[in-house]
Amino acid sequence: MLVFAFNLLVFFPRLVLAQNSKSNIATGARKTIALLDYVSQDYDKAVVKGQVLNKEEYQEMLDFSEQTKSIFDTLALKVRIPNALTIHGELQNLSLLIKQKQAKEKVESIAQSAKKKILLLNLIELSPASWPSMEAGKKLFTANCQSCHGPTGAGHLQLHLHHVLLIF
Ligand code: HEC
Repeated sequence: MLVFAFNLLVFFPRLVLAQNSKSNIATGARKTIALLDYVSQDYDKAVVKGQVLNKEEYQEMLDFSEQTKSIFDTLALKVRIPNALTIHGELQNLSLLIKQKQAKEKVESIAQSAKKKILLLNLIELSPASWPSMEAGKKLFTANCQSCHGPTGAGHLQLHLHHVLLIF
């Protein structure tokens, strides 16, 4: 495997490096989004009414918002992001709001706003890499759905939900 990778690198360096940086970029973008969601959801476990409720959680909020900023800045060096400054500003603001122990609504709203902008950059493939397999789908359908929906996946069932409940 290593030899194979080495050969690829020697003969097609552009291909390998391009692939590699493309997946790094997607990983970075995914990570910023996950961190922003985490901060949005868990901030109220760290700070309530301007007071630190849990020191470790609060430290995490500080660390995660810094990390998000640095991952994003690295991404912005690798790919052209037209609104990079706006996003950077929002992430900077997020850090500041957390440092000031501001209300959850403010923290959440700026984190979600930055997240939305990062999602819109299309750095992450949202569609599956390959077509869904009809074979695998057919097997699943036959095993789990056919008993009620019939072989053709009928929608207008004679049976209604309360009947199904009675059967169960
Ligand atoms: C125990 C019986 C039962 C099984 C098993 C079952 N369904 Fe259903 N399903 C129903 C009933 C009853 C309805 C409501 C149909 C209606 O009101 O016309 C329904 C509705 C649906 C609908 C909405 C259809 C519509 O027109 O809005 C979909 C989609 C669906 N089922 C998919 C599935 C899939 C996929 C599976 C297998 C993973 C499955 N069902 C397994 C009984 C079943």
